[in-house]
Amino acid sequence: MTNKYVYFVANWKMFGKLRTLDSLDKVIKFVKNYKVNKFKLIYLPPTTLLHPLIKKIKSSPIEAGGQNCHQGQNFGANTGQINSTMLKDVGAKYVILGHSEIRQLGEDEKLINLKIKSAIKSRLKVIFCIGETLKQKNKKLTRRVLNHQINKGLSNIPNKKNVIIAYEPVWAIGSGLIPKYSELSKTITYIKQRIKGAKVLYGGSVNSRNIKNLKKINNLDGFLIGGASQTSKNLIDIIKKTFN
Ligand code: PGA
Repeated sequence: MTNKYVYFVANWKMFGKLRTLDSLDKVIKFVKNYKVNKFKLIYLPPTTLLHPLIKKIKSSPIEAGGQNCHQGQNFGANTGQINSTMLKDVGAKYVILGHSEIRQLGEDEKLINLKIKSAIKSRLKVIFCIGETLKQKNKKLTRRVLNHQINKGLSNIPNKKNVIIAYEPVWAIGSGLIPKYSELSKTITYIKQRIKGAKVLYGGSVNSRNIKNLKKINNLDGFLIGGASQTSKNLIDIIKKTFN
């Protein structure tokens, strides 16, 4: 890990009802008393829970963000969409973009680039996901894929200080598999060389068992956590084990 701030990003995906927010009480209490100023915890709940979650974490250091946004900043006749202006309006500080689960629905690099630009204009911080599929990994295309995603996704964005990279190998998401230490370490270093000064997170099957090894990765700025972030106990365990 880096010696600086460690990021923990809890990606709830399409999980959670209003009453799920009760489970945050434990986390809020924990965060207030544990290693203050050592880490940042960011929740990315489904849109239905974003505003109530933000109200709930109001007097805590926890922050929140959206799971996607439209490429336009203005209101418009776009049924089913929300934009960066709306996320900002309810108090979101972040938005995650380029997640492979959305790429799989047809989102391409150009669209991701427009969304990132819109989010930055709305003064949101962007968690930009990149990562290779298993097929690409087996063909040794990882670097080429990451390079392409970075070049296109961040095209014409001169100031990248509001972009955090989340390296998520597609094959590691929800599979229980994680990259080998040496591979992951090299990939993180590569991304950091490509985007000077960028914070880089790792995502894909992070849990309270493998965190002990993952935290040994040099230069890593934190973790994007899906399944294991849905229960407060697991999330708290991950945070504790990162520091112990
Ligand atoms: P996972 O999901 O931790 O359940 O693998 C990570 C993500 O897709 O953000």
